[in-house]
Amino acid sequence: MATSADYRRVDFEYPRGWFMIGPATEATAAPRAIRYFGQDLVIYRGERGTPYIVEAYCPHMGAHLANNSTSYIVRDNEQVEGGSIRCPYHG
Ligand code: FES
Repeated sequence: MATSADYRRVDFEYPRGWFMIGPATEATAAPRAIRYFGQDLVIYRGERGTPYIVEAYCPHMGAHLANNSTSYIVRDNEQVEGGSIRCPYHG
C-alpha cells in the first residue's frame, strides 16, 4: 500500500483509490474475518443488502468483531442491525 511518505505528504497511511478484494457475494449476514493491506478487517452484509468492510477490532476494548461464536449476540443472530455491526463482547 502506498504511504503518504511516498507522496511527501503528512505521516498518515491510507489507501489511495479503490481495491477489489473479491466478489460482493462474499459479504453475508454472518460477519467474517478477512485480512487485506496488512490490516485485520471484517466483512458483512447489512440488513438492506449493502456490503460493508470495517476494522476488525472494537474501539471500546478491542474485541474482534467476527471471531466469536459463543456470545448471545452472535448465537441469536443479533450482531448485524441495519447497516451496523454490534460487538459480541459488550454489545
Ligand atoms: S469490547 Fe466491544 S463493546 Fe466492549
